[in-house]
Amino acid sequence: MLRRDARKLRWSDVTPRPLWMNRRSLMTGAAALMASPALARIDAAASPYSTDIAPNSLEDITAYNNFYEFGTGKEDPARLADGLTIDPWSVVIDGLVDKPGTYDFADLVKDQPLEERIYRFRCVEAWSMVIPWIGLELAGLLNRVGVQSGAKYVAFETLVRPEEMPGQQSPFIEWPYREGLRLDEAMHPLTIMATGLYGEPMPRQNGAPIRLVVPWKYGFKSIKSIVRISLVADMPPTTWNMLQPSEYGFFANVNPTVDHPRWSQASERRVGGGLFGGREDTLMFNGYEAEVASLYAGQDLAVAY
Ligand code: MTE
Repeated sequence: MLRRDARKLRWSDVTPRPLWMNRRSLMTGAAALMASPALARIDAAASPYSTDIAPNSLEDITAYNNFYEFGTGKEDPARLADGLTIDPWSVVIDGLVDKPGTYDFADLVKDQPLEERIYRFRCVEAWSMVIPWIGLELAGLLNRVGVQSGAKYVAFETLVRPEEMPGQQSPFIEWPYREGLRLDEAMHPLTIMATGLYGEPMPRQNGAPIRLVVPWKYGFKSIKSIVRISLVADMPPTTWNMLQPSEYGFFANVNPTVDHPRWSQASERRVGGGLFGGREDTLMFNGYEAEVASLYAGQDLAVAY
C-alpha cells in the first residue's frame, strides 16, 4: 500500500500556498475519487512512505482529538489548548546517550526532511484518520545524540503544566503522560517526530510543537508535546499500560485479530466518512505489515499485545 515511485518534490514547492491548502482540503471522501490531473500531481509528490489514501480534512484532524491534558472530550483539546505556551520549548535527552542535554526545539529539528508523510492513523477506540505530517525521522535524531550499546528502549514524556493544561488538575492519570518504544521500533524509518501537519507547524491540540507518530501502532503510542526522551535498558512504564494493563499492552500494534477486552478491533470508522460510510476493515499493523512484521518475528502478538 506504500508508494515506491514517488519523487521528492512537494505540491507546495510548485504551487502558491493558498491554492495548495485549498486543494488539499478537498481531497477527502468522494472528492478523491475524481482523479483530476492536479490531484494526480499531488500524489506523485509525496514520500515513498506515504499512503495514497486521501487525507482527512484539516478540520477533522484538528477538531476531533485525544489529548487528556486538556480533558477527555474529543472537542476539549481544540477548545482548551490555545493557552499552551510552545515557545520557548526544549526537550531533555538523557539516559544511555553520548550527548545528553537540554536541546532547544529549533536546534533539535533543524535537519527535517522536506517531504511530508501521509500516514494512516488508527486509534485504539476503533476510529481512524489519514494525516499528512511533516517532521523528521526519530532515527536521525537519535543518531545525532549517539545511542549507547546498553540502550534497549526509548521512553518519552509529555510536558506537565497544570496551569496551562487543565486536564492535569485532575489526577486520574499519573502525570506526565508517558510512552515507550523498543529501540528497533524507534529506529524504524516509519517512526517520526512530527512537527506539523498540512505543511504548517503542529496545531496545539495535535501535540505542538513536537510529538511522536508510529503509524503501525494504536494512536495512544503517539505521545504529544514531548519534553523528555530517555534511552534506557529496561522496558519503561507507559501511561495506558499503568492505568489498565489488561487492556493496553506495551506494544499496542494495530491487530484486527486481537480484540480489546471490551470491543472488537476487526474494523474501524474513518472520521469524516468516506467510502461505505467510513467503516472499513482494520489491516494488520494498520497496513504497514510489509514494513514492520519482521520486527516481531518469533513474538506471539496475542501475548505481546
Ligand atoms: N499524548 C498525550 N500527551 N496525551 C494524550 O492524551 N492521547 C493519545 C495520543 N497522544 C494522548 C497523547 C491518543 S489516545 C491518541 S488516539 C492520539 O494522541 C490522538 O492524536 P490526534 O488527536 O492528533 O489525532
